[in-house]
Amino acid sequence: MSEETRPTETPVVPAHGYGESLFQPWRPGEGERIDLGSQAYDGFTRARLRALGAGPGSRVLDVGAGTGTIARWLATEVGAEVLAVDRDVRFLEPYAGGRLRTLAADVTAPGFDPGRFDLVHARFLLMHLPGHREVAARLAGLLVPGGHLVLGDAVDLTTAGAPDTPYRLAMRAMWRALRTGIGTDVGWTPGYPRLLRELGLTAVGAEVLVPELTAGSPIAGFWLETWARIREAMLATGLVDAAVLGEAERALAEGTAADLSPGLITAWGRRP
Ligand SMILES: C[S@@+](CC[C@H](N)C(=O)[O-])C[C@H]1O[C@@H](n2cnc3c(N)ncnc32)[C@H](O)[C@@H]1O
Repeated sequence: MSEETRPTETPVVPAHGYGESLFQPWRPGEGERIDLGSQAYDGFTRARLRALGAGPGSRVLDVGAGTGTIARWLATEVGAEVLAVDRDVRFLEPYAGGRLRTLAADVTAPGFDPGRFDLVHARFLLMHLPGHREVAARLAGLLVPGGHLVLGDAVDLTTAGAPDTPYRLAMRAMWRALRTGIGTDVGWTPGYPRLLRELGLTAVGAEVLVPELTAGSPIAGFWLETWARIREAMLATGLVDAAVLGEAERALAEGTAADLSPGLITAWGRRP
């Protein structure tokens, strides 16, 4: 595990909100960038949600729903009754209606209590938030007895150890920039199963997907778009310069990186 993804006692908490100054979601292309990530990870997430019993009539809360690819699938194809929550619902609102309701809300705000659910899902959210344990506990508290909490976040299997290829250096710069700009911390995510058990959940399980990092794959596109969007912040870390970043981009675009993508760890547990 590299310095950028090692667990910290004191997470960096920037004064501004979730990555607005870093990702500038109002700039064109942000929805498409998030969708590339969804293409890489959605199949894995869907299979797990199905296995945990998502079905017609299930009451589901999707927190930090983003562009809503999971929330929309749950509502339209699974037949669940879905509440999709995000601080920024601009990408969700066009799909609201029928079995999909949307709510603009901050999950960390005092009094966040949108109801009780059979399934509560949050993907790529807690790693960006300070106090992930408290947020996980709050989400567990929204389950009906027998309901499942399903949490997914990035797990970094790449940046530790030699050799320092341009790709690895770029990834380290990315994690450092995210930690400085948002407070993102993926150092603790391998501890998800223990965290869920400590919250009193039972039948805890976890699994990891590392999507293929081949030329033209959705995840390669996602990292290229992410690097492009936060380029200045990555360069400001001093861990890469423009030449190294350019080499890393070429390796990713041409499929010669010969490395692992950050993975998705999905962990779940049932409220007794
Ligand atoms: C990386 S995106 C993940 C989107 C989606 N869950 C996915 O997996 O594709 C994180 C989302 O969480 C939202 N978010 C960040 N902080 C939040 C908070 N405190 N309360 C609610 N939503 C938040 C962001 O607006 C963003 O849409």
